[in-house]
Amino acid sequence: MSIPRTFLITTLTVALAMAMVATIVPQAEAARAFFVFGDSLVDSGNNNYLATTARADSPPYGIDYPTHRPTGRFSNGFNFPDIISQSMGLEPTLPYLSPELNGQRLLNGANFASAGIGILNDTGIQFANILRMFRQFQLFEEYQRRVSAIIGTDRTQQLVNDALVLITLGEYRKLLMVIIFS
Ligand SMILES: *[C@@H]1O[C@H](CO)[C@@H](O)[C@H](O)[C@H]1NC(C)=O
Repeated sequence: MSIPRTFLITTLTVALAMAMVATIVPQAEAARAFFVFGDSLVDSGNNNYLATTARADSPPYGIDYPTHRPTGRFSNGFNFPDIISQSMGLEPTLPYLSPELNGQRLLNGANFASAGIGILNDTGIQFANILRMFRQFQLFEEYQRRVSAIIGTDRTQQLVNDALVLITLGEYRKLLMVIIFS
């Protein structure tokens, strides 16, 4: 399989994005939920739970991660969501499809990103079962129903309103990165 351009993350892009994050992420932020949507730039492992070839489950992915093992991140180590979580003192946001994302951990937010997708549904058509944007938003609605069952609808609404949201889609020449602060 040739490597799709979507997966090529250049050092320049990463450096640029990190500089942006460093500038706009407030320090010493109180714990808040963090939601991530997008493609391989920010997928923290959802595709490992899907029947698709678009997955980062073998070396050299993860060689510089603390465990030195592939995590599903399309990165040698941490990715943007990790860096944002760390700089805000938040727990790492788990992939929504991870069975470990349950109970109180849901209150930290969730990562819905899926490698290979694009803004349009037909981007990455060869990868079959990936979470396209509309599906990521459907799962976000499902997430809110699950959280409502734990803390009630009012507090869930509050949690979502106060959350940090990252939407990142693109490849090395065109990168759409949206960070929403409440
Ligand atoms: C993508 O597909 C879904 C489900 O078929 C549809 O609801 C949505 O409108 C489509 N989005 C685009 C941008 O075509």
